Amino acid sequence: MAASMDLSKLFVREYEKNDGTVLKFYQSEIGDVGCVVWDAALVLSKYLETGDLCKRSGGTMQGKTVVELGAGTGAVGLVAASMGADVTVTDLAEFVPLMEHNIKENATSLTGKMHATTLTWGASISDGVPSAPDLVLLADCIYYEESLEPLVKTIHSLCCPTTRVLCCYEKRDTGNKPELERKFFELVEAVLNKQEIPHQRQDPHFSSDDIYIFEFRLKDITT
Ligand SMILES: C[S@@+](CC[C@H](N)C(=O)[O-])C[C@H]1O[C@@H](n2cnc3c(N)ncnc32)[C@H](O)[C@@H]1O
Repeated sequence: MAASMDLSKLFVREYEKNDGTVLKFYQSEIGDVGCVVWDAALVLSKYLETGDLCKRSGGTMQGKTVVELGAGTGAVGLVAASMGADVTVTDLAEFVPLMEHNIKENATSLTGKMHATTLTWGASISDGVPSAPDLVLLADCIYYEESLEPLVKTIHSLCCPTTRVLCCYEKRDTGNKPELERKFFELVEAVLNKQEIPHQRQDPHFSSDDIYIFEFRLKDITT
């Protein structure tokens, strides 16, 4: 069983939404990489707020079923739930208490339902995770070799023909990172179509030359 995280040493990062609402992302001083909010999570959150995705897919975030993978603090999921989506944030078991803490602390700003549960990439997907969600979100989840196949397997198994996957990541040039990125996209493109969200469609203030957003859909879906 995974060690549970020490929630006694938390520090907060405030996230101001475009409508002025402030969300609080609690991060932990102690723990693995998911304890803090990464820049890709902020870029993806601000992209959701642009409304670009909803313009293209019809409707709003209201009532959309969303699953976030490798959510860490649950930051992107919190923004989606504050826009009315019904969100399941997932990560390794040790992160569930931190995600639950963030859900509780932001409860008054969330208009959609939100809960946290364990989802280990490649493992069978538990009943607590909706099948065939409208949207799957990933921020900064391409970073180690052994996880690539399981991660792509999980993304693919969540997808139905109407599911859109938004994958945001920071391009890194050091060590084996370019090779990891190449391999991830090779695996993705075997089962999913990939389309880049150009920087002009992202939030003008929260975008960066080295942070990319891609949208994946099951192959042969054209709308
Ligand atoms: C770099 S962090 C990104 C966290 C968050 N998405 C963000 O951008 O702030 C990568 C996340 O992937 C999670 N992760 C890594 N391997 C995983 C696996 N095999 N199954 C599920 N989650 C995993 C980590 O626990 C961590 O929370």
